[in-house]
Amino acid sequence: MWWLKDVWVIDPSQKISSPQNVLVQGGQVMEISPSLTEEEVLAKAQGESVETINGKGKFLFPGLIDVHTHLREPGQEDKEDILSGSRAAVRGGITAIMAMANTVPVIDNRSLVEFVRLQGERANYARVYPIGTVTKGMQGVELVEMADMKEGGAVAFSDDGKNIQNAEMMRLALEYAKLTGLPIISHCEDKELSGEGLMRRGIPSTRMGLRGIPASAESVIVARDLLLVEETKGKLHLAHISTKESVELIRRAKARGVDVTAEVNPHHLIFCDEEITITNTDLKVNPPLGMPADREALIEGLRDGTLDIIATDHAPHTQAEKARPFAEAPFGIASLETALSAVWQHLVVPRRLSLDRVIEAWSYAPAKRFGLRGGTLKPGAPADMVLFDPDFAEIIEPATLVSKARNTPFLGKTLQGFPVMVWVNGRLVQRNRTVL
Ligand code: NCD
Ligand code: ZN
Repeated sequence: MWWLKDVWVIDPSQKISSPQNVLVQGGQVMEISPSLTEEEVLAKAQGESVETINGKGKFLFPGLIDVHTHLREPGQEDKEDILSGSRAAVRGGITAIMAMANTVPVIDNRSLVEFVRLQGERANYARVYPIGTVTKGMQGVELVEMADMKEGGAVAFSDDGKNIQNAEMMRLALEYAKLTGLPIISHCEDKELSGEGLMRRGIPSTRMGLRGIPASAESVIVARDLLLVEETKGKLHLAHISTKESVELIRRAKARGVDVTAEVNPHHLIFCDEEITITNTDLKVNPPLGMPADREALIEGLRDGTLDIIATDHAPHTQAEKARPFAEAPFGIASLETALSAVWQHLVVPRRLSLDRVIEAWSYAPAKRFGLRGGTLKPGAPADMVLFDPDFAEIIEPATLVSKARNTPFLGKTLQGFPVMVWVNGRLVQRNRTVL
């Protein structure tokens, strides 16, 4: 049995944000109580040994559930695989991940869904939930067998990275997915507008002579998909929202009662296009980093609930790929191990976001939207939990990263505030920053 003593518990599912004692037994949260004596704990343990953790000065919250993670298996294991990615996740405080479908081959049938799910179970670190594609081969032409894939373990459908350009196909997908009750996740990008663009169109892109992507490349598809989901009464989740126009469109759709949730990535909340340099591809990401006004609108959207979910969009690539010239390097930021710490340091410490809101958006809201276990420390819930030390500082170095990827803007930098103990189903999987 675990006894987490005098720890500041953050559990938005129960509206708890206060010092508590937490008992964990048999893989589950057993009790949360403001005060427990040693005699009481020993009586409850009924002879089982008790490991006591002094939680003073630390936070305990439900493990993060990351709804947008690229694990690259099958097919691109030089970038990442399910084992390395799920180990990186628990190092970063993430106890469940939804694995994106743009692998090689793409996850467009039940046997592939089952493969991803089983590899996740074999790895046995973070829980791994497969996302299936919407269309066969992500070609945008023929729908997959959604009900069958749900049977195999798919929790959502997405052609991420390859947005469905044909509005009728998207309408059909939303309509058909209703039979499964699962959301369609849309990577909103009009390919004609984004073209061969490399970063957000604006003064920095012009100055560097890099081809720009207008904000409308995202927002016009956000508008389209909101109208389609409203008409079909389907279920839509919008991935990695990055423009202020998208935030406003979602805000208005929600006011009309449209069944939509939206996600934002830490890098869009922290960085902007002004920080991109042509000699460093670590900030080359899709959708591209916006302007400071976009970043402000995203933070405000997350504060007021227009944006529901924080997700990493962990997009690992090899060092060789990211060492190419800016125009040729792939889009993506690896972030499983740094995302929570970066959000803590750049947004919570400066009081732009409360830790309570961060945990609600990164744990409780994902569990609710995608019907997953976890996201709560209610007695009886699986003990997927994070002990977070706001004083723990670490230099982000290749030697300590357990992900295969190094494409993070934090490499060589110091971050402060890290998960120091992480449990999945009551099993300790990370201690003092080491994955067990
Ligand atoms: C994603 C990837 O690498 O798979 N890259 C990214 O920059 N987010 C694909 C995508 O969503 O475009
Ligand atoms: Zn995407």
